[in-house]
Amino acid sequence: MRDPIPTDRLILRDIAEADADLLIELDSDPEVMRYIGPRPAADVAAYCDRTRDVYMPMQSHPWHGVRLVIDRASDQFLGWVFVRPATASASAHEFDWTDPGEIEVGYRYHRSAWGRGIATEAARPLVRIALADPATTAVVGCARVDNIGSIRVLQKLGLQQVDTRGDVCLFRYSCLT
Ligand SMILES: CC(C)(COP(=O)(O)OP(=O)(O)OC[C@H]1O[C@@H](n2cnc3c(N)ncnc32)[C@H](O)[C@@H]1OP(=O)(O)O)[C@@H](O)C(=O)NCCC(=O)NCCS
Repeated sequence: MRDPIPTDRLILRDIAEADADLLIELDSDPEVMRYIGPRPAADVAAYCDRTRDVYMPMQSHPWHGVRLVIDRASDQFLGWVFVRPATASASAHEFDWTDPGEIEVGYRYHRSAWGRGIATEAARPLVRIALADPATTAVVGCARVDNIGSIRVLQKLGLQQVDTRGDVCLFRYSCLT
């Protein structure tokens, strides 16, 4: 595991197979999944498999991957944030995310964490690290047009809306001019 990344209020740490229960609990809240869409019934084995086969291999990279976001004061799991090659997104083709230098930022939090700047605080150091890497050509993100909170987080991270695809807004921070 890589060293955790501290922020003022949070610790960002690498995801592990043992975190499946935390992920399932988060995804089990319909309000959290409102703009993401329902997921198949919670299956611990499937979450473990995905963590082992998809998320953990990303951790061989210096900064790609999913990190759990932990409240420093209470040690509570709040949610997760990722930065990864945008080509790894299931929607990469639809969104024209074909450049391996494009990095997608994404996040998901428990309701109890909303409205306190947590998503922005957690994503900010990862976006900074991504932008500092000469291999990064852009940081990108997406959110449904009605997911105002997520759109606002992308804006606060410095991304600008560049396009829409159906009911999804596409955001970008371009490094190349
Ligand atoms: C979207 C989400 C990540 C935001 O997390 P958060 O920690 O509340 O985000 P922040 O507090 O850093 O910023 C949210 C911003 O949106 C604003 N906001 C949230 N809901 C809003 C609404 N309905 N109308 C207007 N503004 C809204 C907040 O005021 C804040 O902006 P501000 O700092 O300018 O006041 C969180 O709600 C979440 O996890 N939702 C469920 C999963 C999800 O939708 N993930 C994103 C998929 S694209």
